[in-house]
Amino acid sequence: MTETTLLHLTIDNLLIRHPYANDFFSLLGLPCEARHLTVEAFFSSLSDERLNDLGLLREQLEPRLRAFISQMEDLRSESLPTLQNVTLCGGRDKDGRPEDIRLELHPGDVVSVVGPTGSGKSRLLADVECLAQGDTPSGRRLLIDGNAPDENLWLGGEQRLVAQLSQNMNFVMDVSVREFLSLHAESRLVEDIDVAVGQIFSTAVLLAGEPFKLETPVTALSGGQSRALMIADVACLSASPIVLIDEIENAGVDRRQALDLLVKQEKIVLLATHDPLLALLGQRRLVIRNGGIADIIETSDSERALLQRLNRFDRKFAELRDCVRQGKRLDFDLGDFLADCLPHAEQGFLD
Ligand SMILES: Nc1ncnc2c1ncn2[C@@H]1O[C@H](COP(=O)(O)OP(=O)(O)OP(=O)(O)O)[C@@H](O)[C@H]1O
Ligand SMILES: [Mg+2]
Repeated sequence: MTETTLLHLTIDNLLIRHPYANDFFSLLGLPCEARHLTVEAFFSSLSDERLNDLGLLREQLEPRLRAFISQMEDLRSESLPTLQNVTLCGGRDKDGRPEDIRLELHPGDVVSVVGPTGSGKSRLLADVECLAQGDTPSGRRLLIDGNAPDENLWLGGEQRLVAQLSQNMNFVMDVSVREFLSLHAESRLVEDIDVAVGQIFSTAVLLAGEPFKLETPVTALSGGQSRALMIADVACLSASPIVLIDEIENAGVDRRQALDLLVKQEKIVLLATHDPLLALLGQRRLVIRNGGIADIIETSDSERALLQRLNRFDRKFAELRDCVRQGKRLDFDLGDFLADCLPHAEQGFLD
């Protein structure tokens, strides 16, 4: 987190990335209602008298906020189960042919999982989720720090090793969003359950687009709203060092915002996707064919450079998706649209 990125985040995005930043504002008695403002604009909007009352200079606000966030992150990471590496030992593909692979993953690794529909991407994530020991259809095995995992590691609760956001998600319990989140927070031994529930809820509503209430029964949430709730839950509460994400692009949520939340530096992230922009987010991608890992492609420098440029198009497309969602007409000039996507120096070919 560099100085400029923190100052240029909107308060909304700051709270999505660092929910506990809310406590910083509350502790100083500076509730921020205008959450569309950037942190910088919010700090500038505070009157000199207000800052005098707090005994703070304006330029001290940003370093104080930064120090507060980093203290909170240190506290969180102390409760993480520690892990040096995870090794995926190959099994066999759908025809029983051996999968000749031994892949070591470390905290900080982001790996995409790509391949045609039905090829076995979700199977691979499921193998990691259950820390397979040759006991699944693929025959794969997972080693934690070089050894077969201790069963207790994946029993659940705060020490759960793997957090998964699966492709198909159905709530079976008939409880309200508030009850559901409180149960989760309780099972993870969170001290202040109401604060945790409030943070997850406001993050989920931001991601979902279409608001819902704490009293809404979970079974009445739309597909996108339930996924937003689970994404916020994993991002805000889970201390698991491995995060598995299955096709977030179909979740009906802002996938970029969701990934910003989920891809944390200290985690191993496996991301099954058909989306080129998400596939390029990973340092490498596992290519699945017929149930087996057929290839591993390291993301090249030129792909990374391309990703930056494609992201401009993606942001413009996000605006179009929003127009469609809001029932507006798509009346725009294609030339202007392309010009907006390309930096000035590259606009020559539009003529
Ligand atoms: N190595 C394997 N051995 C035996 N069966 C497998 C293997 N890999 C995958 N399968 C089975 O193939 C089926 C399809 O796999 P899966 O659901 O993982 O596909 P997918 O790539 O996630 O598809 P989609 O893109 O549609 O989500 C599942 O029933 C899965 O259990
Ligand atoms: Mg799948």
